[in-house]
Amino acid sequence: MSRFLRACRRQMVDRTPVWFMRQAGRSQPEYRALRERYTLLEICAHSDLVAEVTLRPVEQLGVDAAILFADITLPLLGMGVAFTLHDGDGPRVHRPVRTASDVAAVRPFEPEATIEAVLDAVRLIRAASPVPLIGFAGAPFTLASYLIEGGPSRDFLATKTMLRAAPELWDSLMHRLTDAAIAYLRAQVAAGAQAVQLFDSWVGCLSPTDYRAAVAPYMRRLFEALRPLDVVTIHFGTGTAGLLREMAAAGGDVIGVDWRIGLDAAWDQIGDRAIQGNLDPSVLLAPPEVVRGQAAAVLAQAAGRPGHIFNLGHGVLPDTPQDTLRMLVEFVHTTRPAGAEVSG
Ligand code: CP3
Repeated sequence: MSRFLRACRRQMVDRTPVWFMRQAGRSQPEYRALRERYTLLEICAHSDLVAEVTLRPVEQLGVDAAILFADITLPLLGMGVAFTLHDGDGPRVHRPVRTASDVAAVRPFEPEATIEAVLDAVRLIRAASPVPLIGFAGAPFTLASYLIEGGPSRDFLATKTMLRAAPELWDSLMHRLTDAAIAYLRAQVAAGAQAVQLFDSWVGCLSPTDYRAAVAPYMRRLFEALRPLDVVTIHFGTGTAGLLREMAAAGGDVIGVDWRIGLDAAWDQIGDRAIQGNLDPSVLLAPPEVVRGQAAAVLAQAAGRPGHIFNLGHGVLPDTPQDTLRMLVEFVHTTRPAGAEVSG
């Protein structure tokens, strides 16, 4: 088995596996050239382009996993929600979902009918990739926040107000988005994805109390539904230092953490799970010796315990040099932290 999948299952590995959220895309010159000709949604409608973009960082950077190139909003295409994607900013939902009739209009997602090209791409990537393919979906809370706010948000006031003031409306919307994520991930796994990551990128805005009541039940249902698929599951969020116990209890073989908490402190909270992270992506804009120093600090906190997958705490930033990413992969692969127990 690959070192990425072994680490996710907390088995011994020869080297620490490493991949980067957003490794495929905006930081790559070839991708930017492609984007001169196609929009994101056009790329996602062509399986050969999706496969090419997904595989490029595997070839160029030497990462231990590929992540499908797509967006968390793609399932909305088949759900009757009109939206536009903006570079560097995020999705805009044309009519924010606020009332009972808005929620009732959110239709079930049928992956084979709507995103056939993405599923074809999964098959192409699986056949060509030397490393495992990670599929992904937006977690219900993060998708709900885009639907309710109508776009990116700083304070998530409309979302928090709905979950407290109209819990039955919230419940109905969250069930629909949970079903959509399950359908999307089942389809990706059926097409060949060997791991799946749930991106709950904005859930860190919630208190533990709100998380337990308004998010955890849906995440538990989601992870339960994935269990029979027998794939590795990764549960990621940002700003979640105060929620890690709750997130781990909700599910995920691997918990993804950002840099606002030390990797060691995060690992104490999640207990016997694998952990993914957690270098601040902005460190990669600094000189190479700074990058190595900070990466070494993350590895020292992992201390060679089985079950660490090196990653950033969030996605690769657009101005990140490809050489820095290559150097970092090499550094992680050749650094053995003191106290490491390593087997061949
Ligand atoms: O690289 C590019 O040029 C981007 C293509 C693109 C993506 N999303 C790729 C993507 C574009 C234009 C979007 C629109 C979009 N969707 C934005 C705008 C800003 C941006 O990221 O360029 C945002 C914020 C979204 C919403 C979104 N998409 C979230 C919250 C997430 C989860 C990851 C995160 O950053 O928190 C995504 C996932 C996503 N968008 C992926 C890709 C290739 C997959 C994840 C990965 O590669 O790790």
